[in-house]
Formats: sequence, C-alpha cells, structure tokens
Amino acid sequence: MLGTAWDYQDHPREFLAKLDALEERGVTVCNPSKVVRWNSEKRYLRALEQSGAATVPTLWLDDAGQGDIVAAMSRFGTDRVVVKRQVGAGGLGQFSFSRDNLPAQDWTMGRPCMVQPFLPSILEEGEYTFVFIDGEFSHGVSKRAGPGDYRIQSLYGGYETDFTPSQADLAGAEAIVAALPFDDLLYCRIDMARLPSGELAVMEAEAIEPYLYPEQGPGLGARLAKAILARL
Ligand SMILES: Nc1ncnc2c1ncn2[C@@H]1O[C@H](COP(=O)(O)OP(=O)(O)O)[C@@H](O)[C@H]1O
Ligand SMILES: [Mg+2]
Repeated sequence: MLGTAWDYQDHPREFLAKLDALEERGVTVCNPSKVVRWNSEKRYLRALEQSGAATVPTLWLDDAGQGDIVAAMSRFGTDRVVVKRQVGAGGLGQFSFSRDNLPAQDWTMGRPCMVQPFLPSILEEGEYTFVFIDGEFSHGVSKRAGPGDYRIQSLYGGYETDFTPSQADLAGAEAIVAALPFDDLLYCRIDMARLPSGELAVMEAEAIEPYLYPEQGPGLGARLAKAILARL
C-alpha cells in the first residue's frame, strides 16, 4: 500500500517507475500503478468530463500569463478565477486572480496549468469529500476554509467536520466513481464542490494516496482491512 507519497509531484517518474518495478516482481500494489499513473496528472478530469461526469468548467493551457487570465474571465463570464498546476497537490503553486487583482504583466505560471471560474460555494459551504473503499461509499467529510482564505486545506487554516450527504449528493459522487476508467480501486476519495446550478461537480478524484479522514469515518479501518484481505 502506498504510504505518505505526498511529494510524488516533485519526482513523478521515479515514483511511477518504482511502482511498476514492484508490480513486475508480482507484488500487489494498491492502488495499482496504472491507476496512479492515470491519477498523477489532473488531465484525468478532462477524460471524466468527456465521459459525462459533472466537472468544474476548465481551460487547459500549456502555460498562462496575464492575457490568458483576462481571456479566461471573459470566457467564463466571471470576475474571479483559480489557476492551478496540472500536476499538483495540497494547493501548492495555486493562484486566485480577480479583475481588480490581476497578475503582473510579466507573470507566468511557467508550466502546464488549468484555469477555472472561482466557485463562490467554496466560501459559502466549502468542499465535500466522499471516501470509497472497494467502490462502496464509506463516509463523508465537510471541509471549510478558515478566515481569509478559500483553500480548505488545514495548511491554510481549513477544518473538517462529519458530513452525511443527501441522497442526491451521494448519487453525484457515486456517478464519478462509476465514470472512473478502472473498477479495481482499493480506495479513492472524491472531492466535490457545488456549481451555481446546485449540482456537485468533481474537484478531484484522488486515488494515489489520499488522506482518508479516519476521524470522520470510524468504520474506515475495518472496511479497509476487509478490502485488503480480499486482495491477498
Ligand atoms: N474553481 C475553484 N473555485 C474555488 N476554489 C477552488 C477552485 N479550485 C480549487 N479551489 C480551492 O483550492 C483548493 C485546492 O484545489 P484542488 O483542485 O483541490 O487542488 P489540490 O488539492 O490538488 O492542490 C480546493 O480544495 C479549494 O478550496
Ligand atoms: Mg484538493
């Protein structure tokens, strides 16, 4: 099982080569290396969108500068956007720009990135996590940003509470799991945020080594143990 691989984005090739080498030796790796490879670039969200999943509208760019940010605002009909790395985690290297707070003329992302309209729901109700073990919903988590930030990660003052999803919201998360191009995931975490339409959209489908929020899911350990045993 992958453990604390939270700097893989800095060494993606070595990380994936190691997983492949383990599988070649006949070691069962969870999640499998093919899943990790697919999940290590956020472009998988594009594939999910193409298969009909509810996603956040996104522009995929090889790089971005001030002109791209202004163009994205016009394209989305919004005054605020978020720019993030296509390979990234933990909110690192992410920016939020508004019409009265544009990047400097000479600013560039300097890498492949994605631009999205800023979802006001992140500030109003936060983000939701749905943890799945062996394809079955285990537990939900509500994640809110702390004062003065929009990122829900604890690194920026965010905090988590228990969350029991409505039937409609759970169905939204289950639809994302169903849209994944794999059916052998030991665990995955579907992070979702609400679109202005009221529907939840996938922000990330984390299948590498996501934090699975055991505090909010007391049954997690037993569920995971059972799913691991079934693979041995
Ligand atoms: N389009 C968006 N609108 C508002 N907030 C966003 C948007 N995209 C990301 N965020 C905020 O930034 C955080 C980190 O973005 P995310 O896409 O989850 O990347 P990662 O966690 O891999 O760094 C989210 O949890 C959310 O709080
Ligand atoms: Mg995230």
